Amino acid sequence: MQPSSPPAADGVWTDLNLATMSAAHEQPYAPVRDAALLVRGGRIEWLGPRASMPHGAQVGLPHYRAGGRWATPGLIDCHTHLVYAGSRAQEFEMRLGGASYEEIARRGGGIVAMVEATRKADEHGLYAQSLRQVRRLLEEGVTTIEIKSGYGLDLDTECKMLRVARTLGVGHGVDVKTTFLGAHALPAEFKGRADDYIGFVCREVLPAVAREGLADAVDVFCERIGITAGQTERVFESARALGLPVKLHAEQLSDCGGAALAARFSALSADHLEYVPEAGVKAMAAARTVAVLLPGAFYFLRETRKPPVALFRKHRLPIALATDSNPGSSPATSLLLMLNMGCTLFGLTPEEALAGVTRNAAAALGIADETGTLEVGKCADFVLWDIERPGELAYGIGANPCHQVVKGGAPMPSRAPGRAD
Ligand code: NIG
Ligand code: FE
Repeated sequence: MQPSSPPAADGVWTDLNLATMSAAHEQPYAPVRDAALLVRGGRIEWLGPRASMPHGAQVGLPHYRAGGRWATPGLIDCHTHLVYAGSRAQEFEMRLGGASYEEIARRGGGIVAMVEATRKADEHGLYAQSLRQVRRLLEEGVTTIEIKSGYGLDLDTECKMLRVARTLGVGHGVDVKTTFLGAHALPAEFKGRADDYIGFVCREVLPAVAREGLADAVDVFCERIGITAGQTERVFESARALGLPVKLHAEQLSDCGGAALAARFSALSADHLEYVPEAGVKAMAAARTVAVLLPGAFYFLRETRKPPVALFRKHRLPIALATDSNPGSSPATSLLLMLNMGCTLFGLTPEEALAGVTRNAAAALGIADETGTLEVGKCADFVLWDIERPGELAYGIGANPCHQVVKGGAPMPSRAPGRAD
């Protein structure tokens, strides 16, 4: 199955305000009021105040009037596990009854409980159920999604999950970046032989995934109920040998030294980070590793230890936000809700939250040259919102002010209001 190729349309949008989210701008949200946005071949050719649009630049282009709305870059969900079969609703009830996420995992529930159903699922069924999750994200203005494997834990199922993820990026107006997460948990057949499983992942699974071009990055769940730091390092060495960038689930439930390890491998991101110490934050800052915060998991697991946002700010770490959409720790399909939670639970500002699902989320996926801000040369992925000001995106709970999504310059049909002329 082929990787997605974005549509490449032309057009000029006027009667709108832009929250460009460009880093090279002093003002919050890097705004342009009463703007014009010119798109050719799916890329932004020009943007600025409408009054300074070069004379004749729009001749021959379809013209869309945006009714005075705000436009932001298309949203990016940079951390999901949304391809899986089965459910963990029962585990939720167990946790509400007092069992912890860690206890359930140690008793053979949790991640490994998904493996049997995911191994059995046929590709078509897996695709159909994952598409339902993707559609919910798209309705809220998401134009790029990262999807991880990690519920197969064998060669065939890990490849199947990644193929399904790649296919989800075809024909739905969304780009999918795939991440191999074979080192997510220990499958039953390797019980008591964790090092052997990591050897199998490094020698057989990862090289096959790389050969078939199924993964854009490699991730590991480095945790005391997951993969040790030493084993993580082995996976990262293999990824490096294959030329694949790495990311890490780090310091979610305890400090295992994951953030510093990720930084040593110039990881694109380290994710969760509730227990990261300042040394880890400093190492990440030096490596430009993005801090991806996952308030859905923090909320759903009823955690109390928050990621140290003040330290991230002090060391000027780029902060991203994502749904972590998965059946166990964050059954979430609303990225806008994560903006709200990022502010209410972690103390981000609405502007930091929006940067977290645009500019910094793009950096967390290594695609900051292509998307994440509204700037000349980048993909024309943007969203028109029914809001008075950009900060409102983090305000609503369960609200969806998305008016229309434009992907590669093409208005997406589901929300298309029709051309003005
Ligand atoms: O990011 N913690 C590891 N991975 C996921 C949870 C996956 C699961 O519980 O199924 C996370 O929270
Ligand atoms: Fe995760």
